[in-house]
Amino acid sequence: MAQFVSFLLFVVSLIAFAPLCFSAKHNNGYLFPEFYDHSCPKAQQIVKSVVAKAVAKEARMAASLLRLHFHDCFVKGCDASLLLDSSGSIISEKRSNPNRNSARGFEVLDDIKSALEKECPHTVSCADILALAARDSTVLTGGPSWEVPLGRRDSRGASLSGSNNNIPAPNNTFQTILTKFKLQGLDIVDLVALSGSHTIGNSRCTSFRQRLYNQSGNGQPDLTLDQSYAAQLRTRCPRSGGDQTLFFLDFVSTTKFDNSYFKLLLASKGLLNSDQVLVTKSKESLDLVKKYAAHNELFLPQFAKSMVKMGNISPLTGSRGEIRKNCRKINS
Ligand code: HEM
Ligand SMILES: *[C@@H]1O[C@H](CO)[C@@H](O)[C@H](O)[C@H]1NC(C)=O
Ligand SMILES: *[C@@H]1O[C@H](CO)[C@@H](O)[C@H](O)[C@H]1NC(C)=O
Repeated sequence: MAQFVSFLLFVVSLIAFAPLCFSAKHNNGYLFPEFYDHSCPKAQQIVKSVVAKAVAKEARMAASLLRLHFHDCFVKGCDASLLLDSSGSIISEKRSNPNRNSARGFEVLDDIKSALEKECPHTVSCADILALAARDSTVLTGGPSWEVPLGRRDSRGASLSGSNNNIPAPNNTFQTILTKFKLQGLDIVDLVALSGSHTIGNSRCTSFRQRLYNQSGNGQPDLTLDQSYAAQLRTRCPRSGGDQTLFFLDFVSTTKFDNSYFKLLLASKGLLNSDQVLVTKSKESLDLVKKYAAHNELFLPQFAKSMVKMGNISPLTGSRGEIRKNCRKINS
């Protein structure tokens, strides 16, 4: 009798857990944090340790990795299209205006991928690595943590035009930037919270020079920029030359993930035009900036929530796409 009962329990558990095993490969279009729990239990630990090593070597790497996930997700969804090098019919997104001489951290992705291929070959996608590395980078710099939904697969193509058109430029208007977010299913709350990423990392002179000298084509600087801060910036970002010279996006706490970015915006010391317009062009956005500037404890959880939302942009799931062996090229 006891034997029969345990046999019955065995059969019932088989039926009960079958959908779980099934879902690992056919996740019906949605992502979930436990995706690699059975197929690669050490996946998250491996990503974290390689990211931690890279960030210990260079603090800025956290910012660079966080930005890669954004630049991936806004182009054909979070599918690691950004990581493909040019080859055959593929024109790399690395050549686009937002990425050229700017996007970085690709070698760290290579290191993570090769560690994962050793541990569990052909299992963890490059798109998921980007999502995990973005989370780990945020945590390492003092930001919030969150569970990363997983199960994205990698694209077999890239879109240079998508990269040029979908990713907002630093001199886009507030309306254009908000429209580009809305096209990805993100709203004004996501826009303001995710812009808070600029609490870490650098910008090149060329990304904000226009503000310092000739904001609207009349030879005048941007008057919404604190004028003594502007004068200081001009010393290292001249009218011509020095395009690649680096500046902190948040000069108060350069490598700490906190709300000081929002405090700087309220002091007219946002570095990029796209930062400053969050307080000068929309009452709704200004109110959000004020809220996050006043309450780090409101900013951090909203950032985490918006990152999950961004990470859910059009993933390839099920049998769509592939698991690349090398993040830089499609499988042959
Ligand atoms: C709202 C529209 C946005 C615009 C116009 C924008 C624009 C820029 C620009 C121009 C730079 C400097 C690039 C350079 O000069 O090399 C930059 C850096 C950065 N961006 Fe954004 N960004 C936006 C939103 C975001 C979002 C949503 C994230 C992440 C979720 C993000 C994360 C970063 C980070 C971390 C850096 C520093 C990267 C580094 O130091 O390597 N940005 N962004
Ligand atoms: C924005 O910057 C780009 C690149 O520097 C420039 O070609 C373009 O004219 C600028 N757009 C506006 C509206 O100022
Ligand atoms: C400012 O930009 C406008 C148009 O982009 C240009 O015609 C003008 O010569 C520039 N002025 C200066 C002082 O650089």
